[in-house]
Amino acid sequence: MSIQTATKTLANGVEMPWVGLGVYKAEAGNEVERAVKSALEAGYRSIDTASFYGNEHSVGKAIAESGVPADDIFLTTKVWNDEQGFNETLEAFERSREKLGVDVIDLYLIHWPVPGKYKETWGALEKLYEDGKVRAIGVSNFTDQHLEELMKIAKVKPMVNQVEFHPRLFQKDLLEYCQTHDIQLEAWRPLGQGDLLDADPVQRIAEKHGKKPAQVLIRWSMENNVITIPKSVTPERIKSNAEVFDFALDAEDLQAIDGLNEDRRYGYHPDNFPYS
Ligand SMILES: NC(=O)c1ccc[n+]([C@@H]2O[C@H](COP(=O)([O-])OP(=O)(O)OC[C@H]3O[C@@H](n4cnc5c(N)ncnc54)[C@H](OP(=O)(O)O)[C@@H]3O)[C@@H](O)[C@H]2O)c1
Repeated sequence: MSIQTATKTLANGVEMPWVGLGVYKAEAGNEVERAVKSALEAGYRSIDTASFYGNEHSVGKAIAESGVPADDIFLTTKVWNDEQGFNETLEAFERSREKLGVDVIDLYLIHWPVPGKYKETWGALEKLYEDGKVRAIGVSNFTDQHLEELMKIAKVKPMVNQVEFHPRLFQKDLLEYCQTHDIQLEAWRPLGQGDLLDADPVQRIAEKHGKKPAQVLIRWSMENNVITIPKSVTPERIKSNAEVFDFALDAEDLQAIDGLNEDRRYGYHPDNFPYS
């Protein structure tokens, strides 16, 4: 297994790479283009962007110039909060698709559960799915309560929920809820934006396996059956973050890393996001 071949099967049968490249805060232009090309060279076949990141055009350009067939790359983008609503989302989708320069987007996500809006937005995602414009649809930053509410009106169940997930925020209940409902959990900020790399058990376990702390953190998400999208714009780190298929964490390692949980977020809790 390698970063190029390891996938998880979504509820509708679509294969989604287990590890992808996140590009939040990767600047449009040279920075993100170099990151995407380095990732594709290193074997990554999944890129996670969003209209909010302002770099979709550069991501699309890098893919087109990479020499890797666009069909082989799993592309995720997201509808931002001020683009939500039924018609607004359909329009936002077309803008994203045009910038990315692809016919079909693999995974389209509702970026945050905007109160009073996300159900209508979901209707638009269902339409895009029915029309064959996206291969899978999902949500991001949804709690189990948001998912319960959504499922009351959904014709198509979300296939993915992308949430903040790392050892300091081991959302075990949400993970179990998603597993019960066949919703694939996907981890954002898997490295705690770098803050988790120095945590004691992470360093120690990395040394034990002859691996890097970032690789241990990526592997921890994988051991929990969670898809993960570490971000880097540094070619050596991008390559190194992909080398997570030649070792495994044992029960003792997992217990030590799980012990870091303190329900601590680096980002917003979905109920406290400044929506307006
Ligand atoms: N849905 C959402 O609301 C949401 C929110 C946040 C993030 N996300 C997604 O999740 C992705 C990942 O999260 P994130 O970008 O917030 O943080 P992250 O992946 O946890 O951490 C990225 C940081 O770690 C550094 N880094 C990466 N690999 C490293 C290594 N091997 N050694 C040392 N440092 C390393 C990067 O530096 P350099 O880049 O300088 O190398 C960067 O500063 C995002 O890019 C985005 O796609 C989604």
